[in-house]
Amino acid sequence: MKNIIVKIYNIIIQLIIKNYFDLIAAKQHRSFDVMSAVLLWMLSYAENNFKDFTIKNKNVLEIGSGKFFVHPTVFKLLGAKKVISIDKYMQLSSKAMKVSFENSIISKKLLSRHIQHDEYLEFMKKIEETKYQFNRLEELGIQYIAPVNTIQFCRDNKEKFDIVFSYTVLEHVLEKEIIDLVDASLFAVSKGGFVLHFIDLEDHQDPKNKPINFLTKNEWSGLLSNKRGNRLRFSDWSKVFLKYNNFDFIFPYRVTRNDFEIPSGIINKFLKYSEEDLRITGFVVVGRRKY
Ligand SMILES: C[S@@+](CC[C@H](N)C(=O)[O-])C[C@H]1O[C@@H](n2cnc3c(N)ncnc32)[C@H](O)[C@@H]1O
Repeated sequence: MKNIIVKIYNIIIQLIIKNYFDLIAAKQHRSFDVMSAVLLWMLSYAENNFKDFTIKNKNVLEIGSGKFFVHPTVFKLLGAKKVISIDKYMQLSSKAMKVSFENSIISKKLLSRHIQHDEYLEFMKKIEETKYQFNRLEELGIQYIAPVNTIQFCRDNKEKFDIVFSYTVLEHVLEKEIIDLVDASLFAVSKGGFVLHFIDLEDHQDPKNKPINFLTKNEWSGLLSNKRGNRLRFSDWSKVFLKYNNFDFIFPYRVTRNDFEIPSGIINKFLKYSEEDLRITGFVVVGRRKY
């Protein structure tokens, strides 16, 4: 009996801590302002490299919605016809979303090149009226589907998407599922449609000080992919994407970090990678379906 009480107590404490960190994130790196800027930054790579790229009246699929739901909303503000956002787990939190949305100061200015002031306010008011409940977001053309098997969804869904997008998601996919997931996600893209992903290659445990320390762990288990990342390096990802002849792929942004020492004890598998490859800690990939 005592053991059960201790277990319940620990679960409650963990939930309180998780909730606390979600709300901090909603005010900081997952705030509406920051995430709007991130999306515009990613879209600029597609716009600059593919002259016919546009969001207006397009069908968008986001893989990996997360908790805050900013990117689907911004796609809609940018003029998307319909946005479907899917997640392997039911992560969306009305409370975290509310905090993220309510703290916006600069997003209206950031988005002003794409949407008029009055339209922006009107749409945000409608979002507020849903009380951030995902089943009501559908009224606004934003559908949330979770939990979902992404591979199955992409293969079975009848309509194709003009844009398939993700932000800090693919590094969490289990290594053994990556080929099938990328394959299925590309299958879901319409002819002439686009793929746009940002993949974060840092060890999520201590990205600032120990960005690739997960390459030193002999006891690595794929299950840590969810928490710390799946450890694929840039060269692995580029091979995954570049084997598709029916897509033009570019990697317009990759960050090479030189501010850390390569840790000792890198496991054999990663010793054959070049130092430059090990130092690439994130990248944007844009693809366009040719046929
Ligand atoms: C770091 S969060 C990013 C969420 C959101 N894109 C954001 O930036 O706030 C990663 C998300 O990917 C989801 N995810 C992980 N593997 C997935 C998969 N195979 N298919 C769909 N979503 C997945 C997780 O459940 C989680 O919500």
